[in-house]
Amino acid sequence: MIGIFDSGVGGMTVARAIEQFLPDHPICYLGDIARSPYGTKSSRTISAYSIENTQFLINQGAEIVVIACNSASSVATDQLRQKFNIPIIEVISPAVQQALKETRSGRIGVIGTRATIRSNVYERQILSKEPEFKVFSKTCPLLVPLVEEGWLNKRETKMILRRYLHGLKNKQIDTLVLGCTHYPLLKHLIQPRIGKKIKLIDSSIATAQYLKRYFEKGKQLQTEKISATKKKESTFFVTDLTQSVQQVAEKIFQRPLKLERI
Ligand code: DGL
Repeated sequence: MIGIFDSGVGGMTVARAIEQFLPDHPICYLGDIARSPYGTKSSRTISAYSIENTQFLINQGAEIVVIACNSASSVATDQLRQKFNIPIIEVISPAVQQALKETRSGRIGVIGTRATIRSNVYERQILSKEPEFKVFSKTCPLLVPLVEEGWLNKRETKMILRRYLHGLKNKQIDTLVLGCTHYPLLKHLIQPRIGKKIKLIDSSIATAQYLKRYFEKGKQLQTEKISATKKKESTFFVTDLTQSVQQVAEKIFQRPLKLERI
């Protein structure tokens, strides 16, 4: 079973993509709504929450855990890998790989939470592969609460986005990494505001494709023991449940979803 966690509903964009790319693998999702957002918190707090989330998913039977949150991926991956004896997949390297594949000019924009941008992880990973490239980063702290609130088409969301993206518009980027798993839900607003020629990198799809390749490679090497059986149903847990969370979750999955509050 694939365990997936995020601070809230954003990681469901990753869970949904995994469901589509790996339909035979049951998922156990945990959205830590009660303690969201993570992106404004210290690395220490985000790591402590990530350890608890991972332990919860392992207790539910997870054999692999996907950190479906850029903020947690950027500060807690090493600690989780040291502490837990199962594969831990993060969302940053798959998005970086994708961005490196897509860019022509080598000028890449990254938008994310304070924790992610502060960690500088995207810039470090991109420049370690391509030292000549230029990375332009921008924190967008208001976007996560807007998404959690379900404000996916409001005038205020569009205004805030215009303001956040303004500084990136004259940097001649050709690729923009959506460095937060909540942002794919705002793709339809981001694309026209940054420019329709700019390639958007959605870490949810990049991560699901990465995981698929990971499983295929494991099968070839016969190291893959993670059960691909749909006998077990996917389960979705949240640490708090509100109407807007339920609505956004169902919008992502395009079907009624049973969210269990823990
Ligand atoms: N969706 C998460 C991320 O990718 C968490 C955002 C937050 O809780 O601040 O960063």
